[in-house]
Amino acid sequence: MEDTSLLFLLFLTSMPCRITNQANLTVSPSSSQFFEGDFVSLSCEEDDSSAGWTVRRNTSKQQRTQCGDGWGKPDDSSCNITMMVPHDSGIYWCEFNQSTISNMVNLTVTGGSVILQSPVLPVMEGDDVTLLCKTKTTPSNLPAAFYKDGSLIRKQPTGHMTIQHVSRSDEGLYKCDISGHGESPSSWITVTGDTLTCLCFCSFQHSQCDDNLMTVFALF
Ligand SMILES: *[C@@H]1O[C@H](CO)[C@@H](O)[C@H](O)[C@H]1NC(C)=O
Ligand SMILES: *[C@@H]1O[C@H](CO)[C@@H](O)[C@H](O)[C@H]1NC(C)=O
Ligand SMILES: *[C@@H]1O[C@H](CO)[C@@H](O)[C@H](O)[C@H]1NC(C)=O
Ligand SMILES: *[C@@H]1O[C@H](CO)[C@@H](O)[C@H](O)[C@H]1NC(C)=O
Ligand SMILES: *[C@@H]1O[C@H](CO)[C@@H](O)[C@H](O)[C@H]1NC(C)=O
Repeated sequence: MEDTSLLFLLFLTSMPCRITNQANLTVSPSSSQFFEGDFVSLSCEEDDSSAGWTVRRNTSKQQRTQCGDGWGKPDDSSCNITMMVPHDSGIYWCEFNQSTISNMVNLTVTGGSVILQSPVLPVMEGDDVTLLCKTKTTPSNLPAAFYKDGSLIRKQPTGHMTIQHVSRSDEGLYKCDISGHGESPSSWITVTGDTLTCLCFCSFQHSQCDDNLMTVFALF
């Protein structure tokens, strides 16, 4: 039994975390922040078929509502929101048969005039990450200041900033501001890529993890 556990741990360590998802929720355009009036398309992608998945969300007003139920336009396993409003801010995920869930994404819609375009999905340790600070009306290359956990980290002349080879210490709450235009909302950047994250992810999404654990054990 101990041998099996060890093998299992080694196996998990060698797997990219996202394999634990049975479906991916993809966001297009890929951003965690949007302006009021923006369009977004959310889709559930699964290996064999995308049939039967629904997009759901939690907002500050309502929990676990389904696309089409007062918000969004559903189509197969995708959901479009044509004119987003600040009340569309919330956590979005995919569900199948009211149980299995995908990754979750946290989207923020602002009535303000500046957004931070940051990765909507967790980034893998070692990847490069580019953040873009944008205004609603002007070209997206104005000088911008970037903040992490409330402290100024960089001022960039062209509104974008690249963090090279991200590590755990880059995880945090980011925002930006453009002089004369204002400040963006804050968004979390999550860095993933080790066993611990996988296990945390698993215990969080336990219903699908059971299936994956079974798959992994069946391999031995
Ligand atoms: C989910 O996304 C990951 C990373 O982009 C990819 O490797 C995986 O194949 C995707 N899974 C599905 C079911 O599309
Ligand atoms: C949605 O909200 C409900 C009720 O507050 C909570 O139990 C559930 O965990 C939330 N789901 C997500 C994915 O945040
Ligand atoms: C949602 O948007 C995508 C991309 O623009 C489009 O291909 C798809 O047909 C749209 N679906 C619905 C239900 O409007
Ligand atoms: C949906 O879930 C119910 C209750 O867990 C189960 O009995 C049923 O077989 C499931 N259907 C599918 C298509 O997985
Ligand atoms: C979603 O993002 C907002 C803004 O960053 C944050 O206040 C909130 O706690 C996040 N919610 C979850 C469940 O991560």
